[in-house]
Amino acid sequence: MIKNTIQVMKTKHINYLREDGQKIKHKPWLGDLFSFLYDSIMTRSIFPKKFGASIKEHTRFLENECIDIHNRRVLELATGSGSITEVLPCDNTYRGIDISEGLLRIAYRKFLLQGFEDFELFVCDAEALPFEDDQFDLCICNLSLNFFNNLDRVVKELKRVIIPEGVFICSVPVPERNTKDSEIRGHLLSESELRTLFEQNGFSISSYDFVNGAILYFKGIKID
Ligand SMILES: C[S@@+](CC[C@H](N)C(=O)[O-])C[C@H]1O[C@@H](n2cnc3c(N)ncnc32)[C@H](O)[C@@H]1O
Repeated sequence: MIKNTIQVMKTKHINYLREDGQKIKHKPWLGDLFSFLYDSIMTRSIFPKKFGASIKEHTRFLENECIDIHNRRVLELATGSGSITEVLPCDNTYRGIDISEGLLRIAYRKFLLQGFEDFELFVCDAEALPFEDDQFDLCICNLSLNFFNNLDRVVKELKRVIIPEGVFICSVPVPERNTKDSEIRGHLLSESELRTLFEQNGFSISSYDFVNGAILYFKGIKID
């Protein structure tokens, strides 16, 4: 359910938010005109050159994590071009947000192709989610935490919209795993900084042992 202070307008299958009569605007990470290049940039450049990581292993890991998730209300922060459709079973109810409408348009086609029946995509900032409280069983955020300007605000929003005991699954590059010394975009927090931030906001955090270049994989549970 959407908060009653927010109006949603759907245009060509994508939801746009308005507040106080004004369309909420965003500045996307990759200009909308270049969205079609996103998947190839991730595969050919970001994974091997920036993260020193394997995209195949990344997908396999997420597949294992998602394989038993069925009939849940799933939120994804920063859907991007919809890579989650490769691993998340289509019998889940899915809501995805991203500031890039170009990427969400690509994602829309993937959700349709994979057979998702109950999914909605919102052009929206992770710092101000349009959803009412306690709406989601699970939230996923892949390779995007480092792009959020105010991560504390995002974590507070996440906590607000997931149910008690709700689960957060996350992959994010961290500086201490960056063996290539490459310049990874965004604001990189260390594992211990991330842990502190999430724990201060009422999550219990556990990291996975899985190692894949600069990427840290962790799980959070909303505990209070
Ligand atoms: C590296 S991409 C990852 C996308 C996708 N999760 C994936 O695994 O392919 C980072 C994404 O974060 C989105 N993004 C950046 N800042 C954002 C914000 N404040 N709120 C929502 N999405 C944001 C970008 O538009 C982009 O789609």
